Amino acid sequence: MNTTQSTTITTATPPGCTPRLLTERAGREDLAAYRQAGGYAPLTDPDALLSEVEASGLVGRGGAAFPLAVKLRTVRDNGRLIAETGGTVVVANGEEGEPASVKDRWLLRNRPHLILDGLRLAATIVGADRAYVYVSDPESAHSVEIALGEIDSQPIRVELLTVQPGYVAGEETAAVRMINEGLAKPTDKPPRPFEAGVDDRPTLVSNVETLANLPYLQRHGAAAFRAEGTSLSPGTFLATITGAGRAPVLYELPHGLPFTELLALHGVSPDQVRGVLMGGYFAGLLDRRVLETNLDHETMRRMGSGLGCGAISVITDDCPVAVAASVLAYFDRENAGQCGSCFNGTAAMAAAAGALRDGAATTEDVERLRRWSVLLRGRGACATLDAATNVAATLLDQFPDDVAAHLGGTCQGCSPAAFRADRPYEAEAHA
Ligand SMILES: Cc1cc2nc3c(=O)[nH]c(=O)nc-3n(C[C@H](O)[C@H](O)[C@H](O)COP(=O)(O)O)c2cc1C
Ligand code: SF4
Repeated sequence: MNTTQSTTITTATPPGCTPRLLTERAGREDLAAYRQAGGYAPLTDPDALLSEVEASGLVGRGGAAFPLAVKLRTVRDNGRLIAETGGTVVVANGEEGEPASVKDRWLLRNRPHLILDGLRLAATIVGADRAYVYVSDPESAHSVEIALGEIDSQPIRVELLTVQPGYVAGEETAAVRMINEGLAKPTDKPPRPFEAGVDDRPTLVSNVETLANLPYLQRHGAAAFRAEGTSLSPGTFLATITGAGRAPVLYELPHGLPFTELLALHGVSPDQVRGVLMGGYFAGLLDRRVLETNLDHETMRRMGSGLGCGAISVITDDCPVAVAASVLAYFDRENAGQCGSCFNGTAAMAAAAGALRDGAATTEDVERLRRWSVLLRGRGACATLDAATNVAATLLDQFPDDVAAHLGGTCQGCSPAAFRADRPYEAEAHA
């Protein structure tokens, strides 16, 4: 395993996997170094690159795993319909509101030109005349600012937009609304940004890691991209691993890697593992069956879970009931307060889970929590409520013994004090 310390984030790759996004060099890669490695190569045939993206099967790394080629094609085609009134817009989403993830800020701080190059390629494919880099981390913003200053001539105007950090601020309609009206809160869909986004123009909002794969595809093509990963989850992905009483590490992993191999890299014995929090706070808990999984989208979907943004928190000594209660309390605090179902629903679920953690819940409270975890799914303008229902449902379905122990007031895991955190398994201290 290659291990590197860069700013405050330790990075690593498994043996036999050549990283495409992480680098062993310490510090920010400047323009000269990026160009020397083949960056900013001229793009003469955008449609040919779009075909490579399609053949590569690259899916978004921001959480939803949506095929990038479909988004690129849709924005390009929608843009052609309004060509007389203006072009399309592209947004590199590096907000990374997910507390258990550091991948985007690592890329922004250390490889800003890789992201700007990916943004340039995406902009050229969709015929954009405006581009934004959307971030909240001040160090990332500084790094991008320097990188933009290094570029002598830009084929497209790129604007850096810094927003107050927040869980919902990175949701794609929140990013668009921030650009349009200065408020980073989600809006109702439709329209989705690819239909009407920034200034009502077709807008591509892509995660910075997704865009960072485009220069590799331009240089090496789809077949090389598929040399790592599985047929349905091609390529490598960045995984922030927290929990298990160990310091967080950012890994670049081939999709399909057995979870137990990741544990071995991370120095955690499978015997210690009670479960994981998957996809950051989004996909909920997964019990010890995680030990039989491979880290790819198809396996995680089969398990009723998800890789999300690649953040995985390994639960060893902490009690899953207490972890779920902390995450639900986080959603209660961090939701955007716009949709009644969300602010009331997250508050009710957080209260029930908190009472369960504290040994103050009844069987009826638990039944109510179960009902909410079903009824509230799909409500609200964004998927925050889905994330909360995922946490509640997976706790109740997969950890019945821990739930029963808390109803009986005899949880060993919470003795002498239950796990509590404002931002459970935070990968880097909140600024
Ligand atoms: C509550 C919420 C928060 C989100 N936060 C982020 C974020 O911080 N960064 C991000 O790239 N995507 C985030 N997303 C996903 C975006 O809405 C969008 O799907 C993504 O930026 C698209 O990029 P991709 O296709 O490259 O994954 C969030 C989604 C939700 C529902
Ligand atoms: S669902 Fe929740 S987080 Fe999303 S916009 Fe509505 S209130 Fe805000």
